[in-house]
Amino acid sequence: MPINILAIESSCDDTSASIISDGRVLSNIVSVQTAHADYGGVIPELASREHQLHIVPVVDQAIEKAGIKKSELSAIAFTRGPGLLGSLIVGVSFAKSMAMSLDIPLIDVHHMHAHVMAHFAVEDGPIFPFLCLTVSGGHTQIIKVTDYNTMEILGQTMDDAAGEAFDKTGKMLGLPYPAGPIIDKYAQQGEAKFEFPISKIDELNFSFSGLKTAILYFLRDNVKKDSDFINKELNNICASVQKTIVDTLMIKLIKASEMTGITSIAIAGGVSANSEMRQRLIDESQSRGWSHYIPDFEYCRDNAAMIGISAYYKYLNKEFCGQDVKAEARLVF
Ligand code: KG4
Ligand code: ZN
Repeated sequence: MPINILAIESSCDDTSASIISDGRVLSNIVSVQTAHADYGGVIPELASREHQLHIVPVVDQAIEKAGIKKSELSAIAFTRGPGLLGSLIVGVSFAKSMAMSLDIPLIDVHHMHAHVMAHFAVEDGPIFPFLCLTVSGGHTQIIKVTDYNTMEILGQTMDDAAGEAFDKTGKMLGLPYPAGPIIDKYAQQGEAKFEFPISKIDELNFSFSGLKTAILYFLRDNVKKDSDFINKELNNICASVQKTIVDTLMIKLIKASEMTGITSIAIAGGVSANSEMRQRLIDESQSRGWSHYIPDFEYCRDNAAMIGISAYYKYLNKEFCGQDVKAEARLVF
């Protein structure tokens, strides 16, 4: 019988369930929450309530689409952390109950490990060792990946994440949350004619809080001179901010490759859906002789398939957890 894993992801604002069979994705259902659009960020209380509403139908759909029966499941996997505690608790509690009722093992998964493991949702995953730049709404990390279960952080953000820089810029520009994809769209019609600072933080770490402040002052000064400035220059502002964020990320990724000698390079997380980020990785790979790995859009944003793929390799190692497992908002890597 194949190893069939039901995976659940509920760490932030999207409820997702997936069936992974012998390491291949049979279904990956994501219910996107729109309740946060007007607030400039995720409202934790609203997110937990939405997860409670969506988890049962999302799991049902994932099982139905995969064409398997609940009795054919080998294990239940879930995101243990990091993330919003109230959101995580919905997924963790649901997974525990279902594993108990079916009398099958539970597998806890680290959300940031899973973003990296999303690369193995398709055949021809990266060759080990590889570097993965994981850029999401809450994290920015350069990870050295030695095998399916062995990863090490080489650098990370000291303050805001890259996705947060997109989202907070969007809030200042009056755009709905999440602003990353909207900034990406406007940037394609603009020119990066405004200059913003690139942080000079040590080693392979990142900082995006200085950029946020620079954008705030830039907008304040220009709006004082022309109250219609944002409207007139929206595309160019988006192109300039996006270029600064992508430049900041690429400088460190290149440095990490030079320091480690690793030329197998991947990107992951919500911001890896960014068109300029994807193109820059392709361009740098061509000029530097890197092998590059870019996830399908479906596996960039939060999704349960990546949780199931991580869990599959833990299952092969018999790494299960007990019913006493707890959700951890700040789970260590
Ligand atoms: O990985 P993810 O779905 O959730 C977290 O774990 O945080 O990442 C969400 C982040 C948001 O900040 C969103 O604005 C950003 O990814 N994002 C993008 C794009 N698509 C999503 N940022 C820039 N360009 C995009 N095309
Ligand atoms: Zn994520």
